[in-house]
Amino acid sequence: MGTTIPLPSEGIVLGIETSCDETSAAVLRGSELASVIISSQLFHSKYGGVIPELASRAHLKTIIPVIEEALAQANVSVKELTAVAATNTPGLMGALLVGVNTAKGLALSLGIPLIGVHHIEAHIFSALLEAEKPELPFLALVVSGGHTMLVIVKAVGVYTVIGKTLDDAAGEAFDKVGKMLGLGYPAGPVVDRISKTGNPNFMRFPRPMIYETSYDFSFSGIKTSVLYYLRDHPEVITTHLNDVAASFQQAVVDVLVTKTIRAAKEFSIRDIVCVGGVSANTALRAALSEEASKTGRRFLTTRPMLSTDNAAMIAMLGALKLEQGLTDTLALSSQARSPLSTIQ
Ligand code: KG4
Ligand code: ZN
Repeated sequence: MGTTIPLPSEGIVLGIETSCDETSAAVLRGSELASVIISSQLFHSKYGGVIPELASRAHLKTIIPVIEEALAQANVSVKELTAVAATNTPGLMGALLVGVNTAKGLALSLGIPLIGVHHIEAHIFSALLEAEKPELPFLALVVSGGHTMLVIVKAVGVYTVIGKTLDDAAGEAFDKVGKMLGLGYPAGPVVDRISKTGNPNFMRFPRPMIYETSYDFSFSGIKTSVLYYLRDHPEVITTHLNDVAASFQQAVVDVLVTKTIRAAKEFSIRDIVCVGGVSANTALRAALSEEASKTGRRFLTTRPMLSTDNAAMIAMLGALKLEQGLTDTLALSSQARSPLSTIQ
């Protein structure tokens, strides 16, 4: 049996997330999610990617209404808040500053603690927002638009990163291949949807590093292989779109699942947690769940809405850090980059 993570038992924490293209606020009462509002900046899709300056300006416009709505849905007045947490790293600098400065203003005016939260670390603890909770130590597969890593979580704040991507992140590969297939941006959810009616064995794309002893990943090779395949067989876009999408998705899923299960075995870890935007992927969830149970392990994740960027996970990690007395001063800075491995 593992060790239960001590959950925040009291207090009302407001979480704020503005690191990329979601403006989000959430209220956590004890360890229960009272509300979460996520406003996605859909206009970036016409540029094929997130435009940082436009993202900051949109956050600035929506952050206050989003917070007000989160408080209203939780039936909480701003004066009842006991702490405010905001993502301060990693992310787009201008976007981060909007959330952090809003949090500073609230902390100062209400006289409550301010907590800066690491976005990737928060994804890991999004799993605590569900009824079935992982026990320590657990293995976290973090798969987002910017990060892919395997992390052994020994306690809140104590991590060993055993593997990460050497090039593209898993979500980045989904988005780039989706773009080649003409599926818009972000393409991950669309690849997921159309793959359901596609044949994953239609074309065998490479599974880079799948049997290497290291737990690092590489996804750019799969992407390039899809690119060459489409160059040589342009007709498949009209005749076999869903089959190509499903075949690509299967290659990514095979690599992620094989390496995750092998790591869980090698380090004798029972609970496997999959978080981050790509963890919303139905094929990845199904495969991890099946392989985990085959080896007597538990597979845990969060509801798809909380797999992608949201403030509920920021409020959760903020509350956990508050329990440990890890609060920040108004001098809290924002950083575009900050590896998880530095917070051991
Ligand atoms: O965690 P997230 O919302 O933002 C970052 O922190 O990067 O992850 C966004 C990524 C995007 O690349 C998006 O295409 C991918 O998650 N994604 C998915 C699915 N839903 C979102 N990829 C595959 N299948 C999905 N269902
Ligand atoms: Zn994220």
